[in-house]
Amino acid sequence: MRILVVMDPIERVLIDKDTTFGFLLAAQRRGHEVFYCNTEHLYAEGGEGWARTAPVTVKEDHGDFYRLGPWVDARLGDFHSVWMRQDPPVDRDYLHASFILDLAGDALVVNNPTGVRFANEKLYALQFPEFCPETLVTRDIAVIRRRLAEKGEPLIVKPVDGHGGAGIFLLRPDDRNVSSILETLTGEGERWVVVQQYLPAAREGDKRIILIDGVPVGAILRTPQADDNRGNMHVGGTVSHAELTERDRAICAAVGPRLRQDGLWFVGLDVIGGYLTEINVTSPTGIREVEKLAGVDLGDAYVKWVEGAVAARAQVP
Ligand SMILES: Nc1ncnc2c1ncn2[C@@H]1O[C@H](COP(=O)(O)OP(=O)(O)O)[C@@H](O)[C@H]1O
Ligand SMILES: [Mg+2]
Repeated sequence: MRILVVMDPIERVLIDKDTTFGFLLAAQRRGHEVFYCNTEHLYAEGGEGWARTAPVTVKEDHGDFYRLGPWVDARLGDFHSVWMRQDPPVDRDYLHASFILDLAGDALVVNNPTGVRFANEKLYALQFPEFCPETLVTRDIAVIRRRLAEKGEPLIVKPVDGHGGAGIFLLRPDDRNVSSILETLTGEGERWVVVQQYLPAAREGDKRIILIDGVPVGAILRTPQADDNRGNMHVGGTVSHAELTERDRAICAAVGPRLRQDGLWFVGLDVIGGYLTEINVTSPTGIREVEKLAGVDLGDAYVKWVEGAVAARAQVP
């Protein structure tokens, strides 16, 4: 296959941590022709999506982990598959890039741009309320203050479009910082925030469950540092192997078919103490850690899935 990977600048890749690097290794190992670009290289012309692209080869060598060939203009529709792996935030530029990916002709774009636009990572989870912690989405500071006073228990508050642990606060009813935190996070009531029951199980960890085509294929647990509320690897959470519980499987069984229907084929669920807190669809990570801890190569599984999906498409008359 000819594959285009749209990603953040490759020179900044962390080869032991980045899922995209695992995908590049696996695609290369499986004999595919892999091309590289950033979102800024995408463009549309004559109703077709294009990109300035360079063939890329990779190896697991910190000092010399990638080589790019000559840059050429390529029609997105001339690739078998295009992998959108640009990190969040899903801002205006991200959305505009996704509209260019809509013009990719017959190429299988993973994840499907329509699905990604549809699925805000924190709010999409609310479509499965039976698995979510008690959650309020609002931009009204007075409502949040009232909720905190009524409950008399700590609440987590976070931006609806946050990622990597950014802007996550624990609000305590007696904390005199509450108003200031809420004014800052909501921009004086201009931006929505997610207000959530604090899950004490977060001390043990936040489970990342990776799904390919709606099916769970691996999991890791991210445990916060003693002096932090957040388990994200990006802010120093430690990673260990995780098994799926009955409850985790029930979550996957409920969410999986919907993910498939929405073209969200490579997804990371965040589950804290059996509660679904986030459905990561933009550029979920975790496969390098699964490979290290469980010895399962999810890069290989992902590329195999793409091979099958591309072949199945080719057979449709
Ligand atoms: N309801 C909650 N209760 C306790 N901790 C939480 C809760 N929601 C989030 N956290 C903590 O914040 C971290 C990041 O939360 P998450 O909602 O996944 O946002 P992000 O997009 O930044 O990853 C989690 O790993 C967890 O440690
Ligand atoms: Mg998360």
